[in-house]
Amino acid sequence: MKSKKMSSDKSIHSDEIIKIATGFHLSKILFAAVEFDIFSKIGRKKLQAKEIAKMCRLPVRSTTRLLNGNVAVGLLNYEKGKYSNSKVSEKYLIRGKKEYLGDLMKAYNNILYDKWGNLEEVIKSNKFQPVFGPQKDTIGNISKNIKIAEKAIMAQHNYSIKPAEELASKFDFSKYNTLLDLGGGSGILSITAVKKYPNLKAIVFDFPPVCKITRKVISKYKAGTKVKVIEGNILIDDFPKGADIILISGVLDGYDSKICRKIIKKSYDYLPSGGAIILKESIINDDRTSPLFPVLFSIALMIETEGGDARSRGEMTQWLKEAGFKKIRYKPLTGISGKFRNLGFLYAEK
Ligand SMILES: C[S@@+](CC[C@H](N)C(=O)[O-])C[C@H]1O[C@@H](n2cnc3c(N)ncnc32)[C@H](O)[C@@H]1O
Repeated sequence: MKSKKMSSDKSIHSDEIIKIATGFHLSKILFAAVEFDIFSKIGRKKLQAKEIAKMCRLPVRSTTRLLNGNVAVGLLNYEKGKYSNSKVSEKYLIRGKKEYLGDLMKAYNNILYDKWGNLEEVIKSNKFQPVFGPQKDTIGNISKNIKIAEKAIMAQHNYSIKPAEELASKFDFSKYNTLLDLGGGSGILSITAVKKYPNLKAIVFDFPPVCKITRKVISKYKAGTKVKVIEGNILIDDFPKGADIILISGVLDGYDSKICRKIIKKSYDYLPSGGAIILKESIINDDRTSPLFPVLFSIALMIETEGGDARSRGEMTQWLKEAGFKKIRYKPLTGISGKFRNLGFLYAEK
């Protein structure tokens, strides 16, 4: 008995702790490389450290360390004294690529990195940390300030491109005429849906500073004839008239459950009979301890919003039932990230 216990103790390794402890090193080498735009500068080439340092106007010694770090984590390759992008970096970290994640990396680095450094304060005070401005939470600041809205919304846009495609292929919008995209952000979910469904139109409803960005994105995607943008506050203003389906993606996670219930009830009252609602989120399991990404997201939301939290299927189902929705169903969106982000959507009918 004793010897069995000893041998199993040997298999327990301090590396498990050290890997978690040094997680911030990993984030930061990625963020620094994105900030210096190293992946775009390398592009499809194979370059020496001194060439990359020169292009970035950085010292060779420190740049070499950063490059080596990125090789060690698999974001760069190193062969015969030259660095090149790994497959994943080539796809996601080169500016101008469709699925570029650099804006999101910059948002993590410039907006959230320091705030996570104050986690103990957040736990002690049980209050969010003002993220952009002196007092307001993230949503409050996005609603008021175009510069902040631009940073946050373009980061979200990066994130939403692929799920938008998957949503449009997994949900049959053909039965509906007009989609109301509450808190539609850059509008990418609406744009993607109307492009796939010729008879569908959409209305993106969001705060005025966000709508300025939405209009630019819509014009870039040449979707102006099918996607309207209307400024307003979901919590206060009447929803724009005429839609028979409502989409709420990445919005409920910013609010406490009382407000979420109100938004869902307001949606129910708004919809015509036979209308539908879609709730899309990164979904935490009902016991709230897994999967890792939504669990960390729930901590991030505690740091940066007044009442936000990751949402579970169970609680969203309950809110839909309470509001009166029927035929509540769920589909996962695993296309972009396997099970890691645990994205999915609930949909229901009035
Ligand atoms: C995380 S983003 C999601 C954007 C988009 N739905 C997507 O999934 O890509 C949340 C969006 O909800 C908007 N939003 C949050 N609360 C809102 C409110 N009370 N009124 C209008 N828009 C709101 C924010 O401005 C932001 O654009």
